[in-house]
Amino acid sequence: MDAERARSRMVDALREAGRIRSAAVEEAFRGVPRHLFLPGLAVADAYADEAVAVQFTEGVATSSASQPSMMAIMLEQLGLRPGHRVLEIGAGTGYNAALMSRIVGPTGAVTAVDIDEELVDRAAVHLASARVYGVDLVAADGANGYPPGGPYDRIVLTVGSDDVQPAWVAQLAPGGRLLLPLAVRGSQLSVALDLGPDGVLRCDSVRSCAFIRLRGAAASADASRVVGDLGIALQTPDDAPEPDPGGVARVLADPRERRPAPGRLSVVDIWDGFGLWLALTEPGVCRLIEVEPETQLPDDLFPLGSEGGTVALTSGDGVAAVVLDGPPEPGPGPVAVREFGPEGAALGDRLLAALDSWVAAGRAGAADWRLTVVPTGTDAPVLTAPQVIVKRHCRVLAELPRPSSSAMDP
Ligand SMILES: C[S@@+](CC[C@H](N)C(=O)[O-])C[C@H]1O[C@@H](n2cnc3c(N)ncnc32)[C@H](O)[C@@H]1O
Repeated sequence: MDAERARSRMVDALREAGRIRSAAVEEAFRGVPRHLFLPGLAVADAYADEAVAVQFTEGVATSSASQPSMMAIMLEQLGLRPGHRVLEIGAGTGYNAALMSRIVGPTGAVTAVDIDEELVDRAAVHLASARVYGVDLVAADGANGYPPGGPYDRIVLTVGSDDVQPAWVAQLAPGGRLLLPLAVRGSQLSVALDLGPDGVLRCDSVRSCAFIRLRGAAASADASRVVGDLGIALQTPDDAPEPDPGGVARVLADPRERRPAPGRLSVVDIWDGFGLWLALTEPGVCRLIEVEPETQLPDDLFPLGSEGGTVALTSGDGVAAVVLDGPPEPGPGPVAVREFGPEGAALGDRLLAALDSWVAAGRAGAADWRLTVVPTGTDAPVLTAPQVIVKRHCRVLAELPRPSSSAMDP
């Protein structure tokens, strides 16, 4: 397929889907040939709306060219202007740096760091082949930002982080914006944080996302534990106590009631809507992810790419999980609560009550939440919110300022 036509189709589709909203982001996508950043890939694949893994370490993807939809969403959240100085952490193929360089123009500056020297060398070749010369590529651990290029009007991570590192805040210009995929109780959210004069970062743009996670000094702990030989992995929030997969395996081997739940849920509700609500309001939240085709919960997990999964509540002696109550449907479908172990019924009650509260709150999704990040040691007035997540370098305050605009029939 002709690359120009493929690119034009990709950009048209991103606009129609509302991912591209501004003329500046549209112009950048039209102007930078993505296929030159993915050499060796068929043109049609380079312009498909999919992430493309470009490096694996022990079978796990450690670098990828991100999905164009997600890149467009984040570029809109970033709000770049001509003349901005930008730091990207996670240069990868160099494609996003090239898009940003086009938007900030010759009066701006883009510095892109990647922890992997080989990737940086390859990104330099890609940028040269696309005739993009304004990007300063650096092999470095982005946990420390990159002081020589600062202060920055914008810092963007295209790799997931568990925390907000002090170096990133310190290297922001006054009023600057830090955009990052941040782990928030097991969900990953793309949050655009504006630095205020009081040192507090406020965010009114939250989107759901799924990025490869940081390596190096600020590497995330792997939150997945495989549960016995059930073919299921248990994922708990990064700020939750260490899970006991053996205990969960014993409980899952003790199925009890299965209760139909009122209302209908889609996959998006499970990860982005109700799943996020549950994570922010219930301490015992976890996710159960299928890692092998034959699992303890064979037919009723929600489809998640090639795997199945769901959200659940756990305690020492019980699990209650939201499951499908019928074959998977493209939109919202009927659901049930499956209970396991002696405490399963009590957890099931809590899960059903949480479902009611989420519906009453307008079926809030990621975009409805407002987050405030207070860096540790900030001499700011005491701020609080209904949900507070304490991390090593900051506190994240989460609130729902108004009923969700995405409210719909249960
Ligand atoms: C999803 S890819 C980024 C895609 C890239 N923005 C593009 O346009 O192709 C994430 C990248 O983050 C890099 N990375 C992981 N940990 C890092 C760290 N501590 N510092 C800098 N880069 C890191 C990985 O090597 C990987 O290339």
